[in-house]
Amino acid sequence: MLTRTDAKARGLADLPPVESDSLLKLIALANADPRPDKIDVGVGVFRDAVGNTPILKVMKEAEQRLVDTQESKSYLGSAGDKRFAELLRPILLGEHAEDERIAGLQTPGGCGALRLGFELIATANPGARVLVGTPTWPNHPPIIGAVRLEQVDYPYYEIGQGAIRFEDMLEALARGEPGDVALLHGCCHNPTGADLNPVQWAEVADVCRERGLIPLVDIAYQGFGQGLDEDAAGLRGILSQCDEVIVAQSCDKNFSVYRDRVGCLFVKTGSATATAAAMGHVFQRAREMWSMPPDHGAAAARIILDDPELRARWLVELTGMRDRINAVRQRIASADPRLAFIGRQYGMFSMLPLSVEQVLKLREDHGIYMADSGRFNVVGLGDHEIDRFIAAVVGALDA
Ligand code: LMR
Repeated sequence: MLTRTDAKARGLADLPPVESDSLLKLIALANADPRPDKIDVGVGVFRDAVGNTPILKVMKEAEQRLVDTQESKSYLGSAGDKRFAELLRPILLGEHAEDERIAGLQTPGGCGALRLGFELIATANPGARVLVGTPTWPNHPPIIGAVRLEQVDYPYYEIGQGAIRFEDMLEALARGEPGDVALLHGCCHNPTGADLNPVQWAEVADVCRERGLIPLVDIAYQGFGQGLDEDAAGLRGILSQCDEVIVAQSCDKNFSVYRDRVGCLFVKTGSATATAAAMGHVFQRAREMWSMPPDHGAAAARIILDDPELRARWLVELTGMRDRINAVRQRIASADPRLAFIGRQYGMFSMLPLSVEQVLKLREDHGIYMADSGRFNVVGLGDHEIDRFIAAVVGALDA
């Protein structure tokens, strides 16, 4: 790390090169491949049967209403669109929606919510450690590092077995100190697709409560697994058990507004007064980083959630996306016994038991772009690409 004195002696030209983020690099690589039949199962965006990522019909209509009715683009403040965050509460928090100990604000996507949540932790307790099950989303470690919290890894998943290493997880959490953070994936685990079952969620909630850990639940795919309520059940169980909880939420996927950056952070403490004080710090950190979140996507989502007819149509389109994810999963799972685990997992991602060399060979020989870890986006595949993808993957597994 540079000290103040070092920094004085150096210029921008002395900065060392940075290895670009693995997923962003993959987007660029796939885009640059001229082969017309390349298959991009890298980054996590939903694609329909013909391989497009369309704007939801209901979103198009809400955006039109927004354009027609918005009278000002004056500042809203660090909380962003308050009505949007309010409307999201019952969808995400369920029976905890009315809990005055939980406060929230709009953020630039789930990433902004994560950063802000970790900023709050670091403000309250710079000595807190973050317990992270591996593998995890590649952007978690840099965000934790950026706020200078210590990350402690534990093994979450056995690649190849398709199984969660639940005993290891419980042991790691039981070794946590009061005030440490347990980073949890709310649903549709990224990158493995291996979600905790309800019994496991209950055990995790118990150990968090008993050890005084602060669960930070990252929930970016609500509705892509089993349903809005089912996907939030683990989080809601955590809220029932624990006094201090942070929730980093994203609408980027379930409203299909990726580039518009739509998310929320929710903070729960033991009392409404303490939550209000914590939110003061949250607003201050947000002000330092982005001042105010972008408005457009959240405003359009608010229009949808505020109108029963549009809301019902959103649910239908969301169900359509979920059904496609699960149908593609079943199709891949039934192709080969070694892929059967994919049918038991949820969300956009699963991990293939492939070496980096095998992943690179699939890229070179077949134009198939997946993360070096073997993570692939199940609905990166258009219908016409599924058989070719399966054949190439089975070939790699046989080799
Ligand atoms: C992914 O994991 O592919 C998505 O969450 C997109 C991203 O920002 O990495």
